[in-house]
Amino acid sequence: MTILVVGASGATGRQLIEQLLIQGHNVKAVVRSPEKLPASWKSNERLKIIVASLLDMSDKEMMELTLDCHSIASCLGHNINWKGIYGQSRKLVVDAARRLCNAIEANKPESPIKYVLMNTTGNRNGDLNEPISFAQKCVIGLLRLLLPPHVDNEQAADYFRTQVGQNNQFIEWVTVRPDGLIDEDQVTDYVIHPSPIRSAIFNAGKTSRINVGNFMANLISDGNLWNKWKGRMPVIYNKSSLNN
Ligand SMILES: NC(=O)c1ccc[n+]([C@@H]2O[C@H](COP(=O)([O-])OP(=O)(O)OC[C@H]3O[C@@H](n4cnc5c(N)ncnc54)[C@H](OP(=O)(O)O)[C@@H]3O)[C@@H](O)[C@H]2O)c1
Repeated sequence: MTILVVGASGATGRQLIEQLLIQGHNVKAVVRSPEKLPASWKSNERLKIIVASLLDMSDKEMMELTLDCHSIASCLGHNINWKGIYGQSRKLVVDAARRLCNAIEANKPESPIKYVLMNTTGNRNGDLNEPISFAQKCVIGLLRLLLPPHVDNEQAADYFRTQVGQNNQFIEWVTVRPDGLIDEDQVTDYVIHPSPIRSAIFNAGKTSRINVGNFMANLISDGNLWNKWKGRMPVIYNKSSLNN
């Protein structure tokens, strides 16, 4: 059995794949541009690269893609350019989630498939009464109007929370919310909270992409960790950023 990673060519997706390989998993990755990938991946027998644009795959191809997977991890995000933000695929993250989950349900797996969604602290967990200031509400409202990727991230998290739900026969999920993303070479200490402990807009902390990859991989590998966070939206901060 294998782990499917989508958004694997991205800055966090690459870190997640490295962490999964270190942990000894078999991984398959759907990428549009294989030339972006590290050379070492091409000779790794535990990593299968599928060159395709995810949302262009047919429903049948999605079913085949997910058939041998016990887990799916999404690090999809919109490219930070005009086309990525305002072009087609405005619903990239939520459409990928919906179509992959439809494929899982059509496959009717014997035990539930784990879906780990990379999201953001800019998004609130609607199941909890997460307090934010009036000023932050106004900024988030503006982001909804101006930035389709923010709406996409919100809808993807809502899809799992409200449509897949807590008692789905075929899918379990965790939505991981990093704060301001940074790049680091090594996994460092990080903390996980059920809800943000600082303002994502006015007082954002830092979360390294490698730590996000490590936490997502640990969720898949460690049944106790999975059971702790399943159906929830944990927030991850680098420990070092909490003193600032
Ligand atoms: N920036 C922050 O501080 C911050 C904080 C918290 C959360 N986030 C969220 O974290 C997520 C990932 O961040 P990141 O920096 O790792 O992103 P990234 O480096 O931009 O990676 C995005 C990934 O999505 C893929 N992708 C983009 N458009 C696609 C499309 N139309 N079809 C298929 N694949 C597509 C990219 O593939 P290609 O390589 O082919 O383009 C890439 O693999 C984003 O959702 C972002 O909103 C960001």
